[in-house]
Amino acid sequence: MDLYEHQAKELFDRYGVPTLRGTVVTTPEEAAAAAESMDLPVVVKAQVKVGGRGKAGGVKLARTKEDVVAHAEAILGMDIKGHTVHKVLIDPGVDIAEEYYMSFLIDRSNRSYLAMCSVAGGMDIETVAKEQPEALAKIAIDPDEGVDLAHAREIAAQGHLPADILDAAAATIEKLYRVFDGADASLVEVNPMVRTGDGRVLAIDGKVTLDDNSEGRQQDLFAEYRDNSTADPHELAAKEVGLNYVKLDGTVGIIGNGAGLVMSTLDVVAYAGEAYDNVRPANFLDIGGGASAAVMEAGLRIIMEDPQVEAVFVNVFGGITSCIEVANGILQALGQLGDSLTKPLVVRLDGNDVAPAREILDNAQHPLITTAGDMDEGAATVARITASRLGQLDAKK
Ligand SMILES: Nc1ncnc2c1ncn2[C@@H]1O[C@H](COP(=O)(O)OP(=O)(O)O)[C@@H](O)[C@H]1O
Ligand SMILES: [Mg+2]
Repeated sequence: MDLYEHQAKELFDRYGVPTLRGTVVTTPEEAAAAAESMDLPVVVKAQVKVGGRGKAGGVKLARTKEDVVAHAEAILGMDIKGHTVHKVLIDPGVDIAEEYYMSFLIDRSNRSYLAMCSVAGGMDIETVAKEQPEALAKIAIDPDEGVDLAHAREIAAQGHLPADILDAAAATIEKLYRVFDGADASLVEVNPMVRTGDGRVLAIDGKVTLDDNSEGRQQDLFAEYRDNSTADPHELAAKEVGLNYVKLDGTVGIIGNGAGLVMSTLDVVAYAGEAYDNVRPANFLDIGGGASAAVMEAGLRIIMEDPQVEAVFVNVFGGITSCIEVANGILQALGQLGDSLTKPLVVRLDGNDVAPAREILDNAQHPLITTAGDMDEGAATVARITASRLGQLDAKK
């Protein structure tokens, strides 16, 4: 889970990292009120989970109260790389002498942690890595050893930070490592980490990614920082019932069991849909290995409620799950959804107990269900049904 800058810096503050603690606001009036209690200048910063806000005009220095209001007005509602700005952070303006780059991340290819440090901060780190790779130090960190003050100083030195600032930088870097380790982050990035005119080393920007696999032991952090305002409502509903669902932009609802089978189903549906204009998968939904009737019902409900979905492809291989369970789950779900249900279903079952399961579906003679013998046939059928519902059956071909 990615954190907003203001959340990252709040987390930094808990670990004693020297940083800025501004105020988050959602209107220009609130921005003016926040600036009232601060010394000018202040900085108005768009809070979106994407980098390069400064370049996009989402970070502005305000020298007067009028500036604060004007900048907040301009930045709120702005679109930065597809993210709409709903909140701005009003931070104290800092007297910046130099800008550095510092990060800790998980280096999966080397099965260790990695520290990156550079005297060339403030700019896009990919550019630094490309144009002046010698200016970017990459230092492997042994997770068992961690980073103490002496190690932190070494990291700063390798990043070519000036000698007279190494002690102050080391103190900040060591605390940033504590954030990375303590919060189970997969990324802690500070760009820029600045040297102030009076010789302090502050984190004035912050990007933190919490490792989703650590949610179990970081429940408080996840609960505190989760931002449901921008999440897709169907994804939230799926999460509540413990299903793995990702919203996509197509019109064919997909349900399968096992991530691999669902991924393949997306592929075959996308392929079958190429013959038409707008026939692509509407979602990824994995109901898991031991998919019961209740789980099938919950999954179908979520997909049926997506207004973009025109038809649904259920593709289940009964391994642990008996196809009988799946067939009953489908019928049960359709019964529960009742008259509100108008979207056709193509069902392909295979594996454990497939023959009696097909019989159950056939005997039900449900007007919305079409059964398919295999996956390709199912994909072709659901693509054709979807196209016809979209009124573009003869569009291409
Ligand atoms: N509080 C601040 N005081 C002075 N300058 C700032 C402040 N915050 C950011 N800046 C300047 O704006 C630039 C961009 O801000 P930053 O927070 O790094 O956003 P982004 O990385 O999304 O562009 C920084 O490199 C710095 O020069
Ligand atoms: Mg930055």
